[in-house]
Amino acid sequence: MSKISILVTGAVGQIGMELAAVAPQFPDFDFVFADSQQLNISSHDDIQRMFASRKFDYCINAAAYTAVDKAQTERKKTALANMIGPYLLACACKENQTRLIQLSTDYVYHNGLNRPLLEDDPVEPKSAYAFSKCAGDEAVLRFHSEGAMVVRTSWVFSSFGHNFVKTMLRLGRERPELRVVFDQIGTPTYARHLARALLTAIASAESGAVNRDLLRGVYHFSNEGVASWYDFALAVFEMSSLPCAVLPIETKDYPTPAQRPPYSVLNKTKWKTAFGQAIPHWREGLRECLEILDRS
Ligand SMILES: NC(=O)c1ccc[n+]([C@@H]2O[C@H](COP(=O)([O-])OP(=O)(O)OC[C@H]3O[C@@H](n4cnc5c(N)ncnc54)[C@H](OP(=O)(O)O)[C@@H]3O)[C@@H](O)[C@H]2O)c1
Repeated sequence: MSKISILVTGAVGQIGMELAAVAPQFPDFDFVFADSQQLNISSHDDIQRMFASRKFDYCINAAAYTAVDKAQTERKKTALANMIGPYLLACACKENQTRLIQLSTDYVYHNGLNRPLLEDDPVEPKSAYAFSKCAGDEAVLRFHSEGAMVVRTSWVFSSFGHNFVKTMLRLGRERPELRVVFDQIGTPTYARHLARALLTAIASAESGAVNRDLLRGVYHFSNEGVASWYDFALAVFEMSSLPCAVLPIETKDYPTPAQRPPYSVLNKTKWKTAFGQAIPHWREGLRECLEILDRS
């Protein structure tokens, strides 16, 4: 039986790298990992070339412009990576009968709701980044309606790339105390858990354990649990035994160019029900990530 071929874009980002890290656990899959040099998703020519080179059963789009604050001014780069790129990928995937998994963000739900968010809750992007991701999601769902899945996740961390955990570890070694906002509530997501969950969902669909049609529409995936950035920072210092004090502050005392939603906990019932997966708590992911960082 031939292997399931999977194209991963944005291969050296956090999620791209974690997909590569868990790939050996999926021997029935044949991966092509493409970084932005090998495949610029906002280049029609790059995409045509990639899809002409071989047949892909799946494309996981882990490429994006993710600098949330810089996106406020880097509008062109943001639009190219987060809106045009997903649109072009969706068109190529449709033409080539490739299923597309588009990664997206909790920041699209800046809607004032104060309970775990559902996939059909109203999106209300309030930053350039969130707006661009929202438009990218809509493009893939509209132009590849039969074969695209949007997976919205939140507060991603990993031993790879840049993220909150690594920033806290760096600052915590340099300073005796840090001020961190306590009035933005969400759920941290260990990118390795997300990567494994995505590939397990594909494996379930390919083995017939779940219906392939479930790989369609909007889903949420984060770790279990809820935290403020303050709680998350505290956990980083507790688990890594760093003697850095954390002081809770309000968002208004830490102004940033881009507004973040005050509450963006994702409800994951749809994912867990569709794919029969249990999801670990974020503290479990954090512990694993810190162990990997400690060994490196
Ligand atoms: N990070 C988070 O906290 C978070 C939270 C919620 C959702 N998400 C979503 O999760 C996905 C992956 O995020 P991540 O944290 O893994 O991001 P990341 O670490 O910033 O990686 C993104 C990758 O995309 C690449 N890229 C940017 N523009 C590209 C283009 N035009 N063509 C091809 N590659 C391009 C970047 O490469 P270069 O550096 O070479 O440009 C980078 O390697 C994104 O859809 C993001 O919106 C992330």
